Amino acid sequence: MPLILNREDVISVLEMKDCINILEDAFVELSNGTAKLPLRTAITPPNGLSLYMPAYLQEMNALACKVVTVYKDNPEKHNLPTTIGKVLLQDATTGEVICIMDGGYLTAVRTGAVSGLATQFLARENSQQVVGVFGAGVQAQMQLWAMCEVRDISRAIVTDKFPEASQNFAKLMSTKLSIQVDIADNPDDLLSADIICTATSSPTPIFDGTKVQNGTHINGIGSHSPNARELDSTVIKRSLLIADSYEACLAEAGDIMIPISNGEITKNHIHADLGEIVTDKKTARSNDEQITIFKSNGLAIQDAATAKLIYDKAMAGGIGSTVEI
Ligand SMILES: NC(=O)c1ccc[n+]([C@@H]2O[C@H](COP(=O)([O-])OP(=O)(O)OC[C@H]3O[C@@H](n4cnc5c(N)ncnc54)[C@H](O)[C@@H]3O)[C@@H](O)[C@H]2O)c1
Repeated sequence: MPLILNREDVISVLEMKDCINILEDAFVELSNGTAKLPLRTAITPPNGLSLYMPAYLQEMNALACKVVTVYKDNPEKHNLPTTIGKVLLQDATTGEVICIMDGGYLTAVRTGAVSGLATQFLARENSQQVVGVFGAGVQAQMQLWAMCEVRDISRAIVTDKFPEASQNFAKLMSTKLSIQVDIADNPDDLLSADIICTATSSPTPIFDGTKVQNGTHINGIGSHSPNARELDSTVIKRSLLIADSYEACLAEAGDIMIPISNGEITKNHIHADLGEIVTDKKTARSNDEQITIFKSNGLAIQDAATAKLIYDKAMAGGIGSTVEI
């Protein structure tokens, strides 16, 4: 009988630090060839987008598929969220479905966690760092949480198109993380931060890449379609660029695909993928002056590894309910 985990069950067992650690193992598997990661499949019904994201991690014994839908009219017409996600976890030995869990919180935490992992390897190591956060939605919250797990963060600065969103973010995150969270007077204020996380819904670049200071590490997580980008060509050209996956970045990331199609960079500008960095196959930052960028599109191995972590913790804690299907 599969275990059913609702959003509250997932929240009760999933911690950012654990997720960062399990994702390190997942990216090692990806780099060492023990993971299967097909590109996600997209279907576009008339009103929405449905994405199917399967993955298998052999060493971790994690076999899962996430289904995520994005229906923009949902809140207004059906009183449902825009984005809905569920993860189906299987027993890798028998193929049997062992768990169905809510995927919303899982997605947010694993998206924060992969930026945390990248930041751990790529950001400068000095203490008392400042984080600039573009966007104040749920992904932005998780980005900041992850930064606080891997670096000594003294302060964050946030900006959003909607001042109310920034205010809510500052109140919530300063309490949750016990750090000072300021609202930027001007978005350019964020460009002096040590670490920048871009987690907006903007389809066009959100800052001028000439103004980014040397030594900055950037996690770009918001856009993941070929025609949308948060980062301009200038900052991409100035940076040591790390992909979550070469294949995903060259098929889905406008931040990289647009400068390639404009002839501003070639695909060789991608220095490494995250798996190559965590397994030491490629070098990370080589000096304190480099700008580093981690481009995240969101990979199904992140979902599979996180789902397995959640399942194991829920089983150990007697959390969730079972149903006969
Ligand atoms: N890489 C991944 O794995 C991954 C995973 C999940 C979501 N995402 C993406 O992350 C983004 C954020 O997701 P969310 O769920 O937090 O969305 P959200 O809609 O809750 O928040 C996005 C915020 O960005 C703000 N914004 C838009 N343009 C801006 C700009 N130019 N400057 C500052 N703020 C701006 C919006 O006002 C909004 O508050 C989306 O694009 C989503 O598709 C990526």
